[in-house]
Amino acid sequence: MGFNFVAWPARLKEDLGAAFAWLFAGPCEFPHAFVKRLIGNPRLELDGDPNGTILEGLDLSYAYDNGRVVFQGVSVATHGDELVAIVGPSGIGKSTLLRILGGFIAPLTGEVRLLGKRVSRPIPEIALIHQSIVTFPWMTALDNVKLALKSRKIGGDEADEIAKKVLALVGLEGSEELYPKEMSGGMRQRVAIARALAAQPMVLLMDEPFSHLDELTAEELRQDIYSMIFNSDIPLRSAVLVSHNLYEVLTLADRIYVLNGCPARVVGEITVEMDRPRDPTSAKFSDYMHELRSYLTPVKREAA
Ligand SMILES: Nc1ncnc2c1ncn2[C@@H]1O[C@H](COP(=O)(O)OP(=O)(O)OP(=O)(O)O)[C@@H](O)[C@H]1O
Ligand SMILES: [Mg+2]
Repeated sequence: MGFNFVAWPARLKEDLGAAFAWLFAGPCEFPHAFVKRLIGNPRLELDGDPNGTILEGLDLSYAYDNGRVVFQGVSVATHGDELVAIVGPSGIGKSTLLRILGGFIAPLTGEVRLLGKRVSRPIPEIALIHQSIVTFPWMTALDNVKLALKSRKIGGDEADEIAKKVLALVGLEGSEELYPKEMSGGMRQRVAIARALAAQPMVLLMDEPFSHLDELTAEELRQDIYSMIFNSDIPLRSAVLVSHNLYEVLTLADRIYVLNGCPARVVGEITVEMDRPRDPTSAKFSDYMHELRSYLTPVKREAA
């Protein structure tokens, strides 16, 4: 069978490029022993406070080649066992910020740190699920997930066993041999999540992971995602969810950063104190919704 790579959408090519950059990233700047310790079982071997700071973006700013500053002075952080959301209007710079946090692009100013160590390129400890669903069409679900295990230098029967376990964790037991074209959008996104989790990252970055799904499928995945990622079988320590869906971030996040303005800044930070599963009809939920909206409407722009 032949592939016409030239005809593929630019976005998919970019995503594939990023995926390969991630898989085949050269040696990172962490000392070898430190990397080994992280890849082993970070949940068990982390030093210090288990709720301490995991990933930090410090005083970040960014401008694309056209010189327009997208955001500036942005500082965000995640802590142990925390799902942090970044919310803001379309075009405000959420995806750009997430790519910087993953080491995929360098900030204009500021820096990203994982456990205090500077991140300057993609590293296996930080996985990114892209805004468009990325599965490799010529590979089965199982092979898609096993690809991530290559970065951990795991092959053969062990890779099969781990990949099956992670697929079961995301609800795809029995679908291991299906190709992406034989799956629904929701199933493909579950494969993408499984592939990210199989790499045993310490931090999972998710860029609008449900935006390409129909509302019912998105709702199903929203209900499942928290238990998928914060699971005793997965050594993940924190996750960052980028979204413009206020309902979604209030359903899922422990803490929310609100981006707004031009250039964008963090205009609000909300700690969400509601038990899970969250009830969107509760008074507390609507209070938080009100607070979120107050940061976002109208879209605040600085005077020229
Ligand atoms: N490659 C690029 N070159 C120039 N400008 C870009 C590039 N990519 C994004 N931008 C611009 O940077 C700004 C931020 O883009 P970004 O994709 O980070 O926004 P976003 O908040 O993720 O938007 P959305 O919610 O629509 O996904 C936008 O104004 C966009 O037009
Ligand atoms: Mg985006």
